[in-house]
Amino acid sequence: MPVTCLVSAKSCGVTTAALALTLACARSSLLAECDPAGGTIRAGLLRGQVSAGYGLHHLAAAERVGPAELAQAFAAHLVPLDGSAGHRRALLGLTDPAQAAALTRTWSALSDVLHVMAESAGHDVFVDAGRLTLDAGRLHAVLTPAPLLHRADLVLLTVRGTEQSLTLARHLLGPLRAELAERGTGAEALGLLLIEDGPYRAHQVADALKVPVLAALPWDPAAAAYLGVGGKAPRGFARSRLLRYARTATEQATVFAARRQVHQRYPAPAHPHLAGLADLPDRPVSSRGAARG
Ligand SMILES: Nc1ncnc2c1ncn2[C@@H]1O[C@H](COP(=O)(O)OP(=O)(O)O)[C@@H](O)[C@H]1O
Ligand SMILES: [Mg+2]
Repeated sequence: MPVTCLVSAKSCGVTTAALALTLACARSSLLAECDPAGGTIRAGLLRGQVSAGYGLHHLAAAERVGPAELAQAFAAHLVPLDGSAGHRRALLGLTDPAQAAALTRTWSALSDVLHVMAESAGHDVFVDAGRLTLDAGRLHAVLTPAPLLHRADLVLLTVRGTEQSLTLARHLLGPLRAELAERGTGAEALGLLLIEDGPYRAHQVADALKVPVLAALPWDPAAAAYLGVGGKAPRGFARSRLLRYARTATEQATVFAARRQVHQRYPAPAHPHLAGLADLPDRPVSSRGAARG
């Protein structure tokens, strides 16, 4: 299963989207809240019910002891997002942004753990990597979890369909592509996740930014507010538009990651007559018109 990293140019719905994807996924799923600016799920959806004794900030010390200790600590710090069922779990984020510096050497080892969870344990893994900060044209070493992006099967730059959001995203795309090409698994790991707020539709966003829109989530204030602040779930939350399209988005992420793996294993020049096979079209990405039931 894929490891999908969600990022943004400016706060626009990354945490909400990461939660929606994790909760809507058809398989066991895992959300790693790795935003160096600090986690919001503990105080938000979980309403402070999980103590600061659990979370990402405890993993730096374990990593310094060794990979086995990190893996153990990781498992011990996961908390359920689905009551006691345990199919959807989260590693909650930093309680203080000052903790980010201590994690710079942890990200790479944490990435190994997340890939084991995805590949061997069969989880869909979603990483909330927060808002990206650049430093001299590269991903900032402390203010971004850069190694997680480098290794991700899919990096989803989250944008809204507004002029402001597209303008900010445009400035980030060049450096992000270059970073993934030079230090990551390739610039093709990058796609857009469109939050359908604003006038621009998926094809217009893709045209404007020259990056494919791999998935779209609808503007759904009631469901998003619940994911943001918790409390009593709104009526029909599990069947809300946000969760239904989030489920479709998880399938699209899986298809995309599988196709990339095929491309990486069988590079196009070796099979020029078969190259088109890996690019057969999928279902439309826009949630508008893609509704089922
Ligand atoms: N799909 C959506 N529909 C409606 N509101 C949304 C949606 N996604 C995010 N929001 C709202 O946008 C705000 C920022 O969302 P959040 O997920 O915290 O962003 P980020 O993690 O990028 O800072 C919150 O008030 C949230 O409820
Ligand atoms: Mg956030």
